[in-house]
Amino acid sequence: MSISTDNEKTGMQLASDAVAITLRKMREYAKPGISTKELDEYGGELLAQMGAKSAPFLTYNFPGYTCISVNNVVAHGIPSEETILQEGDLVNIDVSAELNGYWADNGGSFVLGEDIHGHGKLVEASKAILRKAISNIKGGVRISEIGKLIETEAKKAGYTVIKNLTGHGVGRSLHEEPHEIANYCDKYNTTRFKKNSVVAIETFISTKSTIADTQADGWTLTGNKGGYVAQHEHTIMVTGGEPVIFTAQNGIWD
Ligand code: CO
Ligand code: CO
Repeated sequence: MSISTDNEKTGMQLASDAVAITLRKMREYAKPGISTKELDEYGGELLAQMGAKSAPFLTYNFPGYTCISVNNVVAHGIPSEETILQEGDLVNIDVSAELNGYWADNGGSFVLGEDIHGHGKLVEASKAILRKAISNIKGGVRISEIGKLIETEAKKAGYTVIKNLTGHGVGRSLHEEPHEIANYCDKYNTTRFKKNSVVAIETFISTKSTIADTQADGWTLTGNKGGYVAQHEHTIMVTGGEPVIFTAQNGIWD
């Protein structure tokens, strides 16, 4: 969406606060021994307390309130009683929701407890790349230029990017124009970021894979070459200078 009134900006901020606070509290709640189902139900309660409704559930009838992807699952992990979190797991939580007609989206990967498997470097690279990408976005910048920046930074750190998962416009629905904000230089995409538009910017930084493949359940995504993926996502408003980070309260950069 494009923001043209203070009311719209407030609406986006409130929806963004709901998903950001939910993401932060879920990350704090996560601990070894609990199931991803339990973690998701906690997230669902937080959203409901704030009057927000799960976006993947509303939009896609996703079997959960949030997506929780553990270890080799790249994204769209279904919360399950059978997935029990363990020390050192690479966990990604993605929370998106609707509040009063406004939609916001955010996500983040983290290492649960002690980093016994050494996933920390990947997580830190993804966070730093998101920060650099967002700080380079302003009205008039080509979307492909930001994709190029993400891929270049990933390569420098020794990683690949997932090419078929992207950031996207957001605001009046979960996914809107521009539909693909890729993590690589898509030279066929000549569109530019527009001032006052609301977009969800997300990294998909990988140790090996370049494509995310859908598993038999129709949701779970895994990498075509295996390995691990870290994702970090903020909903922002594009301006003529530094973007407004609507989901800053998620604390993914802290
Ligand atoms: Co998301
Ligand atoms: Co998104």
